[in-house]
Amino acid sequence: MITNPPSSHQNKQWSPDSWRNFPIRQNPIYNNAKELQEVEAELASYPPLVFAGEARNLKERFKEASKGRAFLLQGGDCAEGFSQFNGINIRDMFKVIIQMGAILTFAGSCPIVKVGRLAGQFAKPRSSDTEVIDGIELPSYRGDMINGIEFDPLSRTPDPKRMLRAYHQSAATLNLIRAFAQGGMADLNEVHRWNLSFVKNNDFGKKYEELADRITQTLGFMKACGINTENTPILKETEFYTSHEALLLNYEEKLVRQDSLSGDWYGCSAHMLWIGERTRGLQEAHLEFLRGVKNPVGVKIGPNVTKGDIMGICNLLNPENEEGRLNLIVRMGADIIDEKFPKLLKSLKGEGREILWSSDPMHGNTIKASSGYKTRVFDSVLSEVKSFFEIHKAEGSHAGGVHLEMTGQDVTECVGGSQEITEAGLGCNYNTQCDPRLNATQAIELAFLIADILKNRKISK
Ligand code: PEP
Ligand code: CO
Repeated sequence: MITNPPSSHQNKQWSPDSWRNFPIRQNPIYNNAKELQEVEAELASYPPLVFAGEARNLKERFKEASKGRAFLLQGGDCAEGFSQFNGINIRDMFKVIIQMGAILTFAGSCPIVKVGRLAGQFAKPRSSDTEVIDGIELPSYRGDMINGIEFDPLSRTPDPKRMLRAYHQSAATLNLIRAFAQGGMADLNEVHRWNLSFVKNNDFGKKYEELADRITQTLGFMKACGINTENTPILKETEFYTSHEALLLNYEEKLVRQDSLSGDWYGCSAHMLWIGERTRGLQEAHLEFLRGVKNPVGVKIGPNVTKGDIMGICNLLNPENEEGRLNLIVRMGADIIDEKFPKLLKSLKGEGREILWSSDPMHGNTIKASSGYKTRVFDSVLSEVKSFFEIHKAEGSHAGGVHLEMTGQDVTECVGGSQEITEAGLGCNYNTQCDPRLNATQAIELAFLIADILKNRKISK
């Protein structure tokens, strides 16, 4: 039985700008209201970045993942940056995600739903409004769509024009991603070429080469049986979706469009939008915004989430209890998930809520290295993912996916993994705009470890 007490939101009519009537956290203060309005009007006149039909397709994929018949792989930078915008970075991110997809599909025997955390991931919630360096206090960096990372008063002042640049960068990124997904880069016959040169000689790079050999062999066999890329286009294309945190609502509102087919509203800045742990208050602006768009949507949940919070989120975001609509992204930390998550899942058992559960093993495991760098230990990331799977198995629910901060570059931001990156080695290539990301080798390693878990899940079914 679903009980659905009306909340203050549900009593009120939703519109793309109704969030403006609610208290809001983490929003920048723009000094120039006229300039902000001009930018907003310009954004509203731009074409949408995605089409509602695509968001509906992703909802279908989410449904499959929520039932354990597919697995969601969502990943990308913590924050995209204007200065890191180039074809190589986009290509390498795409390659690693489809490479992980191949590992999980082939070694894990499971269809993979690939969602990039890209083409719009430009706004960051911060734990502190200001940052102090050498006694100087300035506003915190909030992502390139809001202000600049450089530590000077001008860069740190929120500038609405940055939203336009973020839109154009998103459009160009999405354009290249669509070209890669459909224009031949994702052709399974190219599976060997996805392995990045610096990954190749690593143990997991080699393991990938073996897997790619087996895929190539399988394709040869299928070809001999008459199944080839000409008559089976799915072998040479991949579905690839985009997502980001819907944090800067001035931007998100102006990219909402009414779908001409269904009459419904869609957030057309990405296929999937989520809101973060810091902005998920039930009576607040971000939930108000998200409840009115029909895309698949997500909410991050940390260790302090309560059953009441989750019921409130479900009531607001998914009053019809639609399958594939709501993704709860669990980010409790490797040390806490075993204590908190089983109780939470147990308490929700009788409620019959449709939820796609995924694991963000990054944000509960951020530590400060003695050198001062923010980092994450690869083993903690792995440990949280493993616990996530085990807890779901014990409770009879489905571990539906992972949400990762990662890059196609050979960075040194997270410690551990088969390359054995140490705290002392973090400075070699620490390049993130915000949180530490798994590098391509660590991402491939994690994919193999998750594939083993998926395979065993399949076998024990
Ligand atoms: C993020 O995904 O970068 C983030 C800030 O996450 P969270 O809201 O879970 O802290
Ligand atoms: Co982050």
